[in-house]
Amino acid sequence: MSVNKEIKRVTTHNLQAMKSKGEKIAMLTAYDYTMAKIVDDAGIDIILVGDSASNVMAGHETTLPITLDQMIYHASSVVRAATRALVVVDLPFGSYQGNSKEALSSAIRIMKESGAHAVKLEGGVEIAESISRILTAGIPVMGHLGLTPQSIYKFGTYTVRAKEEAEAQKLREDALKLEELGCFGVVLEKIPAELAKKVSASLHVPTIGIGAGQHCDGQVLVIHDMLGLNKGFRPRFLRQYANLYEVMNEAIQHYVSDVKANDFPNETEQY
Ligand code: KIV
Repeated sequence: MSVNKEIKRVTTHNLQAMKSKGEKIAMLTAYDYTMAKIVDDAGIDIILVGDSASNVMAGHETTLPITLDQMIYHASSVVRAATRALVVVDLPFGSYQGNSKEALSSAIRIMKESGAHAVKLEGGVEIAESISRILTAGIPVMGHLGLTPQSIYKFGTYTVRAKEEAEAQKLREDALKLEELGCFGVVLEKIPAELAKKVSASLHVPTIGIGAGQHCDGQVLVIHDMLGLNKGFRPRFLRQYANLYEVMNEAIQHYVSDVKANDFPNETEQY
């Protein structure tokens, strides 16, 4: 297995070059220092400090409750760990939809207070003004189309989006709009693979898929899901690379029984 380790810090320009060369982009989420260090050392191109922190770190049912302050806390921990990956941070629900001025001040807070390298916003043409304003401040923006979890109460379910032609057409137009505005990449979440293939071919900037098939220019997964930390979460798009729930559960049970049996600590483990 070879990972591209000679790049100092991945930039949005490197990502563009990777798409041009046909080199796939690998992105994973991380929300804390220790996990981000492991992810960065393994050669990931982009670390996403996703608002999925609301689910996997805080235990909320949706991504809606997480605040800008909480995102900044997670992002600054990740930035301290990442020496190679580009760190992209989600603007949380309610921090950019109101107006473009608010969107810019949220993005500036993330960049200033966490040291991250880019922000991600969910939505298409509806948030064009916010995206433009953030970009004029020199902040790189990543788009996010398809299943946009911040709109879960509009959709009603987490099932595949844009299966119908009208929604697929809007998504194609939104993707072109995001590129025209100046986004450096677009996440495509849970849409048919054929649609993702067409969108990826129509854009110069890279697409990063999650549940969007193999023709995207890169892939992203939530780290807790791909490491098998979320017991029972097995959607079709998820490849589970480890079963850390089992590994950790076994280790902790072992510790509990050692403590109860007065086997830990032993004489060599004390002062
Ligand atoms: O918040 C997140 O983790 C995301 C990914 C699923 C793309 O937006």
